Amino acid sequence: MRALALIAVLWGQGLYAEEIGEALYEGRAPISVQMGEAVLPAVGISCAGCHGHDGAGGREAGSGPPLLGLRAQDILRAVRDGIGEDGRTLSPAMPRFVFDAPGDAANLAGYIEEIDALQRSGFGTREIVLVFGQGAAAERFAKAFFGRVAQIAPRGVFGRSLVRQEAGGVVILAATRPEGRATAPHLFPLYMLRGDEDVRRVRGGFASLNDQIAALARTAERGVILDPEGREPDVPAGWSVVARPPGDVPVIALGSAAGQVDPDAGPVLIVADDLHHLGRIAGCFTVADPRPAPDRSGAPPLERYGRAAAEVLVEALARCERECTRAKLFEKLDGLSVQSPEWPHLDYAAWPLTGTDLVALRRVCLSDDRQAP
Ligand code: HEC
Repeated sequence: MRALALIAVLWGQGLYAEEIGEALYEGRAPISVQMGEAVLPAVGISCAGCHGHDGAGGREAGSGPPLLGLRAQDILRAVRDGIGEDGRTLSPAMPRFVFDAPGDAANLAGYIEEIDALQRSGFGTREIVLVFGQGAAAERFAKAFFGRVAQIAPRGVFGRSLVRQEAGGVVILAATRPEGRATAPHLFPLYMLRGDEDVRRVRGGFASLNDQIAALARTAERGVILDPEGREPDVPAGWSVVARPPGDVPVIALGSAAGQVDPDAGPVLIVADDLHHLGRIAGCFTVADPRPAPDRSGAPPLERYGRAAAEVLVEALARCERECTRAKLFEKLDGLSVQSPEWPHLDYAAWPLTGTDLVALRRVCLSDDRQAP
């Protein structure tokens, strides 16, 4: 349901051709298959599933061949008519597709023609280009990140140094907003992950919103969730989403609801990212912190996170070897387990998206300065 809603939202915003092409290729945008006389929505199958996310061919026996180097007209003849580049009729293992919207055919073929260049963009012979988000937080993150890189990979990875550029990078690090029209995947974003993002496009290093809500919900048997901005979290057993708190029951206040709840009316639980909504409300709150690193170094979490990100990325790039692509890098991240001195153990085999589900719960009390003399 949520995926469909997301597609509808994205559609409404008018995407770039390349993004529509990618969504079609990855099975995130609607396309149909010809089954005898019938035309049915292609559910559960995608080009990427059979031909690989990088178009370099499926990994399993019997899956699709590489698509790299094919011309748009040959791609579309195969997709629509089931005729291969060499003119032969393709086996039924390759479905026959029907496009749902005008422009889809051109966008899909255009994306496949570009896929190799996109996958390799940012991987130079001497440099690996990284793009960083903007703003003060991203700057501090970047400084900590490159400081750690200089320590653990002073000569770079396979002789290629990690450099920062404005665009055209392998990945975007420390972005402060979810990806919109970015072609590169996001790594270690500074925005809160929900927990259901695409693990080929996004990887973080601290617990997701859903993990934080689950941790808060464990503090009481039942309660209500206020979700005015429609974040639609997974709702733990015993809890429900309501528009107005009934009073007296524990409340998990998300987003701006944090600034409207009354801590005198019952226990209030908040996720750390929503603290800034609290405004001038006084009282005590239980706060879920997704960055539960033990603070032995005394350094701010953002800097420790930047250093942990450097350790994870350098290790993944080393495993990805010389012929690294974006898809291969994310594959290598899958198996990674990194013990950073300053950050909780990150294990992407156990938690593919965030590397952890550790959440620290803290009690925060604010005094009411409105009543101050
Ligand atoms: C269920 C798996 C599967 C899916 C889904 C699938 N393919 Fe294929 N595809 C194949 C197989 C297998 C072949 C090879 C068939 C043969 O050689 O007879 C093939 C062949 C092709 C070819 C011909 C390659 C050539 O050398 O001529 C193209 C192009 C192609 N697929 C593109 C796509 C695109 C684009 C999509 C998504 C819209 C897609 N495929 C979805 C399995 C799949």
